[in-house]
Amino acid sequence: MARHLRTLRDLSSAEFNRVLNLARDVKQNPDAYREKLAGKAVAMIFAKPSTRTRVSFEVGIRQLGAQSLFLPYGGDSGLHLGRGETPHDTAKSLSRYVDAIVIRTFGQDEVDALAEHSAIPVINALTDRFYPCQVLADVMTMRERFGDDLRGKKLVFVGPGNNVTHSLLHAGPRVGFDVVVACPEVLPPSHQVLEIAREEALRVGTQVFVEHNARKAVKDAAVIYTDTWVSMGQERDAHSLRAKLTAYTVDDELMETAAPDAIFMHGLPARRGEEVMASVIDGRQSVVFDQAENRLHAQKALMLLLMGAEPWS
Ligand code: CP
Ligand code: NVA
Repeated sequence: MARHLRTLRDLSSAEFNRVLNLARDVKQNPDAYREKLAGKAVAMIFAKPSTRTRVSFEVGIRQLGAQSLFLPYGGDSGLHLGRGETPHDTAKSLSRYVDAIVIRTFGQDEVDALAEHSAIPVINALTDRFYPCQVLADVMTMRERFGDDLRGKKLVFVGPGNNVTHSLLHAGPRVGFDVVVACPEVLPPSHQVLEIAREEALRVGTQVFVEHNARKAVKDAAVIYTDTWVSMGQERDAHSLRAKLTAYTVDDELMETAAPDAIFMHGLPARRGEEVMASVIDGRQSVVFDQAENRLHAQKALMLLLMGAEPWS
């Protein structure tokens, strides 16, 4: 049975750490991994735009000696998936040609269905609901700044409950940091994701909570994290989303409320002057391009493990 990364819940705490440790080694010694996936091929299905994810996966795949196939989800030069061929038939067919599937799409159910019927690993490169690849790189970046033991560190996500929020909620209890979501009452994270995160946090002794007052939430934060207010696919709701989020811009005053060595994180793309002020994202506390770089290393580690080129333990 192939292993997948549908969400971060596919990784135990030990496996999450294994990905991060391998990612660090891949970053430090890239040459040691050059031929590890020689002769393999990875299909990359994209139903949404991408800068970082597409490029970091394509380059990472080549650096490991494999080849990547960029496959638009639909349209005249895309897959039949976009015009109704089932995930079942798509997964079964692609499993006969390639060795892994990376997919960025709308519905999480589509990723789950592909994984269910695929003989090869399926990697979620963003759905409307979850974004595990981003958060692997984010935690790698946090470890670079604060050391491997993130216990007691508080990450505050300031903005709408969304795919990034949900994956951060999965990560906190697995890695050991606290997650606070500072969002408007009308834009909360998924109740189900939050409840599971609360249960997991309780079990391992970390904290997870929601706070509507951003200023209160960020007190003593080690990480202030934000994301675009309008996710891909929500363009029609842009006006109403912006109206609900005006009190949630990350500005210098908010950063000053956090811990003195706090970092600012954003997976990008960003809108300066909206969810974050330019002085913050371009300022000394910002680690956004470390996050972007670490996408490459974390995803290479993930592929090596899922595709069986490196052991899980
Ligand atoms: N963070 C991220 O996924 O960026 P792209 O949309 O450019 O891939
Ligand atoms: N939440 C954003 C992340 C972009 C990488 C979106 O889904 O568009």
